[in-house]
Amino acid sequence: MHQDVERVLLSEEQLKKRVKELGEVLTKDYAGKNPLAVGILKGSVIFYADLLREIKEPVAMDFMSISSYGAGAKSSGEVKLIKDLDSKIEGRHVLIIEDIIDSGYTLNYLKELLRARKPASVKICALLDKYERRVVPIDADYTGFKIEDEFVIGYGLDYAGRFRNLPYIGILKRSVYENND
Ligand code: IMP
Ligand code: MG
Repeated sequence: MHQDVERVLLSEEQLKKRVKELGEVLTKDYAGKNPLAVGILKGSVIFYADLLREIKEPVAMDFMSISSYGAGAKSSGEVKLIKDLDSKIEGRHVLIIEDIIDSGYTLNYLKELLRARKPASVKICALLDKYERRVVPIDADYTGFKIEDEFVIGYGLDYAGRFRNLPYIGILKRSVYENND
Protein backbone atom coordinates (compact mmCIF):
# COMPACT_ATOMS: atom_id res chain seq x y z
CA MET A 1 0.00 0.00 0.00
CA HIS A 2 1.17 3.56 -0.75
CA GLN A 3 2.52 5.45 2.30
CA ASP A 4 0.00 8.32 1.84
CA VAL A 5 -2.97 5.93 1.92
CA GLU A 6 -4.78 5.55 5.25
CA ARG A 7 -6.54 2.34 4.13
CA VAL A 8 -7.86 0.62 1.05
CA LEU A 9 -11.56 1.39 0.64
CA LEU A 10 -12.22 -0.63 -2.53
CA SER A 11 -9.83 -3.33 -3.69
CA GLU A 12 -9.01 -4.20 -7.28
CA GLU A 13 -11.23 -7.27 -6.98
CA GLN A 14 -14.20 -5.28 -5.65
CA LEU A 15 -13.83 -2.70 -8.42
CA LYS A 16 -13.56 -5.33 -11.12
CA LYS A 17 -16.64 -7.18 -9.91
CA ARG A 18 -18.79 -4.04 -9.66
CA VAL A 19 -17.64 -2.68 -13.03
CA LYS A 20 -18.59 -5.99 -14.64
CA GLU A 21 -22.06 -5.80 -13.03
CA LEU A 22 -22.56 -2.23 -14.25
CA GLY A 23 -21.48 -3.33 -17.73
CA GLU A 24 -24.10 -6.06 -17.76
CA VAL A 25 -26.85 -3.63 -16.80
CA LEU A 26 -25.72 -1.07 -19.39
CA THR A 27 -25.49 -3.77 -22.07
CA LYS A 28 -29.19 -4.47 -21.53
CA ASP A 29 -30.33 -0.86 -21.12
CA TYR A 30 -28.48 0.41 -24.19
CA ALA A 31 -29.04 -2.54 -26.53
CA GLY A 32 -29.65 -1.23 -30.04
CA LYS A 33 -29.25 2.42 -28.96
CA ASN A 34 -25.64 3.01 -30.04
CA PRO A 35 -25.00 5.35 -27.10
CA LEU A 36 -22.27 7.96 -26.88
CA ALA A 37 -20.22 7.39 -23.73
CA VAL A 38 -18.91 10.74 -22.53
CA GLY A 39 -15.93 10.39 -20.21
CA ILE A 40 -15.14 13.31 -17.94
CA LEU A 41 -11.40 13.91 -17.99
CA LYS A 42 -9.28 13.03 -16.27
CA GLY A 43 -10.74 11.26 -13.25
CA SER A 44 -13.05 8.88 -15.11
CA VAL A 45 -10.48 7.54 -17.59
CA ILE A 46 -9.61 4.28 -15.82
CA PHE A 47 -13.21 3.51 -14.90
CA TYR A 48 -14.31 4.47 -18.43
CA ALA A 49 -11.81 2.14 -20.09
CA ASP A 50 -12.72 -0.80 -17.85
CA LEU A 51 -16.48 -0.18 -18.02
CA LEU A 52 -16.68 0.18 -21.79
CA ARG A 53 -15.04 -3.21 -22.24
CA GLU A 54 -17.82 -4.72 -20.13
CA ILE A 55 -20.54 -3.29 -22.38
CA LYS A 56 -21.20 -5.92 -25.03
CA GLU A 57 -22.98 -3.61 -27.47
CA PRO A 58 -21.61 -0.88 -29.78
CA VAL A 59 -20.70 2.30 -27.86
CA ALA A 60 -19.15 5.46 -29.29
CA MET A 61 -16.56 7.40 -27.30
CA ASP A 62 -16.06 11.08 -26.57
CA PHE A 63 -14.62 13.18 -23.75
CA MET A 64 -15.14 16.47 -21.96
CA SER A 65 -13.00 18.26 -19.48
CA ILE A 66 -14.45 20.32 -16.69
CA SER A 67 -12.78 21.91 -13.71
CA SER A 68 -14.41 22.60 -10.39
CA TYR A 69 -11.74 21.86 -7.85
CA GLY A 70 -8.42 23.51 -8.45
CA ALA A 71 -5.68 21.47 -6.83
CA GLY A 72 -7.20 21.15 -3.35
CA ALA A 73 -9.51 18.67 -1.66
CA LYS A 74 -12.54 20.99 -1.36
CA SER A 75 -15.00 22.01 -4.07
CA SER A 76 -14.95 25.64 -5.11
CA GLY A 77 -18.48 25.47 -6.52
CA GLU A 78 -17.18 27.06 -9.70
CA VAL A 79 -17.48 24.92 -12.80
CA LYS A 80 -15.62 25.70 -16.01
CA LEU A 81 -15.73 23.94 -19.38
CA ILE A 82 -12.20 23.23 -20.56
CA LYS A 83 -12.76 20.80 -23.42
CA ASP A 84 -16.07 20.27 -25.23
CA LEU A 85 -17.28 17.19 -27.11
CA ASP A 86 -16.11 16.52 -30.66
CA SER A 87 -19.45 14.89 -31.53
CA LYS A 88 -22.89 16.32 -32.22
CA ILE A 89 -25.36 14.78 -29.78
CA GLU A 90 -28.76 15.86 -31.07
CA GLY A 91 -31.05 12.81 -31.10
CA ARG A 92 -28.42 10.55 -29.52
CA HIS A 93 -28.40 8.61 -26.27
CA VAL A 94 -25.69 10.15 -24.12
CA LEU A 95 -24.19 8.38 -21.13
CA ILE A 96 -21.97 10.56 -18.96
CA ILE A 97 -19.27 8.54 -17.19
CA GLU A 98 -17.86 10.19 -14.09
CA ASP A 99 -15.53 9.09 -11.30
CA ILE A 100 -17.40 10.56 -8.33
CA ILE A 101 -20.35 12.79 -7.41
CA ASP A 102 -19.53 15.00 -4.49
CA SER A 103 -21.29 18.38 -4.21
CA GLY A 104 -23.06 17.68 -7.51
CA TYR A 105 -22.00 21.00 -9.10
CA THR A 106 -20.05 19.34 -11.92
CA LEU A 107 -22.72 16.92 -13.08
CA ASN A 108 -25.54 19.38 -12.63
CA TYR A 109 -23.74 21.85 -14.90
CA LEU A 110 -22.86 19.16 -17.42
CA LYS A 111 -26.30 17.62 -17.61
CA GLU A 112 -27.90 21.00 -18.26
CA LEU A 113 -25.28 21.87 -20.86
CA LEU A 114 -25.83 18.61 -22.76
CA ARG A 115 -29.61 18.63 -22.41
CA ALA A 116 -29.75 21.97 -24.20
CA ARG A 117 -28.32 20.23 -27.28
CA LYS A 118 -31.44 18.04 -27.57
CA PRO A 119 -30.06 14.52 -27.20
CA ALA A 120 -32.53 11.61 -27.09
CA SER A 121 -31.47 11.00 -23.48
CA VAL A 122 -28.77 11.97 -21.00
CA LYS A 123 -27.92 9.62 -18.16
CA ILE A 124 -25.15 9.52 -15.61
CA CYS A 125 -23.00 6.59 -14.56
CA ALA A 126 -20.79 7.43 -11.58
CA LEU A 127 -18.37 5.01 -10.00
CA LEU A 128 -18.63 6.63 -6.55
CA ASP A 129 -21.31 8.63 -4.79
CA LYS A 130 -20.44 10.74 -1.74
CA TYR A 131 -24.12 11.29 -1.06
CA GLU A 132 -23.69 13.08 2.29
CA ARG A 133 -21.90 15.96 0.59
CA ARG A 134 -24.51 16.88 -1.99
CA VAL A 135 -25.24 20.60 -2.39
CA VAL A 136 -27.11 20.43 -5.70
CA PRO A 137 -29.87 17.80 -5.91
CA ILE A 138 -28.60 15.49 -8.62
CA ASP A 139 -28.25 11.70 -8.69
CA ALA A 140 -26.57 9.21 -10.94
CA ASP A 141 -28.74 6.80 -12.91
CA TYR A 142 -26.08 4.14 -12.38
CA THR A 143 -23.81 4.11 -9.33
CA GLY A 144 -20.88 1.84 -8.52
CA PHE A 145 -20.56 2.42 -4.78
CA LYS A 146 -22.01 4.83 -2.25
CA ILE A 147 -19.19 5.98 0.03
CA GLU A 148 -18.81 8.02 3.21
CA ASP A 149 -17.41 11.52 3.32
CA GLU A 150 -13.68 10.76 2.99
CA PHE A 151 -11.23 12.04 0.39
CA VAL A 152 -10.39 9.11 -1.86
CA ILE A 153 -7.71 8.54 -4.46
CA GLY A 154 -6.70 5.94 -7.02
CA TYR A 155 -8.39 4.19 -9.97
CA GLY A 156 -8.38 7.56 -11.77
CA LEU A 157 -9.04 9.83 -8.80
CA ASP A 158 -6.33 12.27 -7.82
CA TYR A 159 -5.17 14.60 -5.15
CA ALA A 160 -3.28 17.50 -6.76
CA GLY A 161 -2.63 15.41 -9.86
CA ARG A 162 -1.19 12.44 -7.96
CA PHE A 163 -2.29 8.87 -7.26
CA ARG A 164 -4.48 8.36 -10.35
CA ASN A 165 -2.62 5.20 -11.32
CA LEU A 166 -3.15 3.31 -8.06
CA PRO A 167 -5.12 0.18 -9.03
CA TYR A 168 -7.40 0.37 -5.95
CA ILE A 169 -9.37 3.18 -4.26
CA GLY A 170 -7.82 4.32 -1.02
CA ILE A 171 -8.58 6.91 1.64
CA LEU A 172 -5.96 9.64 1.58
CA LYS A 173 -4.22 10.36 4.89
CA ARG A 174 -5.47 13.67 6.26
CA SER A 175 -1.90 14.77 6.94
CA VAL A 176 -1.33 14.89 3.16
CA TYR A 177 -3.97 17.57 2.54
CA GLU A 178 -4.93 19.27 5.81
CA ASN A 179 -2.19 21.89 5.54
CA ASN A 180 -2.66 22.44 1.83
CA ASP A 181 -6.30 23.51 1.31
P1 IMP B 1 -18.55 17.89 -7.49
O1 IMP B 1 -18.70 18.91 -8.56
O2 IMP B 1 -18.34 18.52 -6.13
O3 IMP B 1 -19.63 16.85 -7.48
O4 IMP B 1 -17.16 17.20 -7.71
C1 IMP B 1 -16.93 16.22 -8.62
C2 IMP B 1 -15.45 16.19 -8.93
O5 IMP B 1 -14.67 16.48 -7.77
C3 IMP B 1 -15.04 14.81 -9.36
O6 IMP B 1 -15.09 14.68 -10.74
C4 IMP B 1 -13.64 14.69 -8.82
O7 IMP B 1 -12.73 15.13 -9.80
C5 IMP B 1 -13.56 15.62 -7.65
N1 IMP B 1 -13.65 14.91 -6.34
C6 IMP B 1 -14.66 14.93 -5.45
N2 IMP B 1 -14.42 14.18 -4.39
C7 IMP B 1 -13.20 13.63 -4.61
C8 IMP B 1 -12.38 12.71 -3.85
O8 IMP B 1 -12.72 12.20 -2.77
N3 IMP B 1 -11.21 12.38 -4.43
C9 IMP B 1 -10.78 12.89 -5.62
N4 IMP B 1 -11.50 13.74 -6.35
C10 IMP B 1 -12.71 14.10 -5.85
MG1 MG C 1 -10.59 15.64 -10.19
